Amino acid sequence: MDKLKRTKIKALLNQEPGAEVLAKGWVRTKRGNKQVKFIALNDGSTINNIQIVAAAESFDEELIKRITTGASLSVRGKLVESVGSGQAVEIQAEEIEVLGECDPMRFPLQKKDTTLEYLRSVAHMRLRTNTFGAVLRIRNAMAFAIHKFFNEKGFVYLHTPLITESDAEGAGDMFQVTTMDLKSIPLDKKGNVDFSKDFFGKKTSLTVSGQLEGELGATAVGEIYTFGPTFRAENSNTPRHLAEFWMIEPEMAFYDINDNMELAEEFVKYLVQYALDNCLDDLKFLNDKYDDGLIERMRSVLGIAFERVTYTRAVEILEEAVRNGVKFEYPVHWGTDFQSEHERYLVEKHFQKPVILIDFPKDIKAFYMKQNEDGKTVRGMDVLFPKIGEIIGGSEREADLNKLETRIDELGMSRKNLEWYIDTRRYGSVPHSGFGLGFERLLLFVTGMANIRDVIPFPRTPKNAEF
Ligand code: 4AD
Ligand code: MG
Repeated sequence: MDKLKRTKIKALLNQEPGAEVLAKGWVRTKRGNKQVKFIALNDGSTINNIQIVAAAESFDEELIKRITTGASLSVRGKLVESVGSGQAVEIQAEEIEVLGECDPMRFPLQKKDTTLEYLRSVAHMRLRTNTFGAVLRIRNAMAFAIHKFFNEKGFVYLHTPLITESDAEGAGDMFQVTTMDLKSIPLDKKGNVDFSKDFFGKKTSLTVSGQLEGELGATAVGEIYTFGPTFRAENSNTPRHLAEFWMIEPEMAFYDINDNMELAEEFVKYLVQYALDNCLDDLKFLNDKYDDGLIERMRSVLGIAFERVTYTRAVEILEEAVRNGVKFEYPVHWGTDFQSEHERYLVEKHFQKPVILIDFPKDIKAFYMKQNEDGKTVRGMDVLFPKIGEIIGGSEREADLNKLETRIDELGMSRKNLEWYIDTRRYGSVPHSGFGLGFERLLLFVTGMANIRDVIPFPRTPKNAEF
């Protein structure tokens, strides 16, 4: 009997009744009467609980008392057909051990109606809720699917550095990395910080993107992708921004902007389909609890081709909307960067499907994007999704050495720091393209959660780095 091995609840729920089984997990609820107790046990393997039926006469009263919400149990018993509705099988308990008690008066998750906002303040414990169990399993499935997708296509997973000298996006919102004593910073003769005395002998930061190193990989082995943490010190307190988020950045030699758009569309559709195929229990739970349009919205992006629209045309559409009485908080005219309200108008109201915007004004995009003939626009692309706005940003890259160097100078960037990058255009330069998918933005779409803080286990946002 002691040799009985634990079976995960997900497997138990799909098992034929009859066997002697051992389950372990945390108590979600306990109810019942004097004769019999019903304990809902969850071990995180599935959103579904297994019901433990414990006849009061078979157990010590003290033991039954220690079985409270949040406590951890080991339960041995017989898997039997369930008489109650809702589950096919349940466990007729023969032996129950309380592995860890949980004081019901102090347990942070005891309240029935815990708002997502409250749960953020107990983020160390919120992982134990059904909601975060579902989110974590979907997050895991998506990470796996990303590796699967690219491996099936022969892409090489490239590990790019987290500590870097370059601001790839040129936005300047980087977290500095230093070992200098902030109370006595070494200065040079001119009174500037002397970074030669710092750990790396130069000014370094946490990366905002692995793209530049990704391009080195793509122009060597053809097709690569990165998948790692990314850091941005932008002070954006929005439901779509994190200071630490995860990004997937494929980079492909010999791809032009059209190949790039095709890959991006295929990629996100693959991920949405994967979630529908592999996470349906969790999706149904989230759909019922938070967003009754979730599954329908996920299905809706699969069957159709994403709309491809130039930035210039999109501005016309938005200007026309304004003329027709649509109110935006931020003004829109040619040359402005779109806000999420503009993106969502295009996706949800105008086209009613995901949109790929292309050909942006060069002044609102990064230095590396391929310049169009018109001298005004670059071959960038943003993929916009319902309820979220931008989930992917990318471009064809400027492969021409002269044009690239001129643009770096125009923007007042340091060519010296980028010599290693510019070498890709000096030696065997090729047309190439790539994009970045914000992992948590994708997760917003495939979980229906409204706030990006609720799709990452331990969010980092301005003034918040707890847990
Ligand atoms: O559009 P972005 O800034 O593009 C790049 O970083 C390029 N280097 C990508 C490439 O071409 N390889 O960022 C890409 C995506 C955005 O579309 C968005 O989904 C996500 O990263 N993102 C963020 N997600 C959460 N919090 C933030 N602060 C984010 N900033 C960007
Ligand atoms: Mg972008």
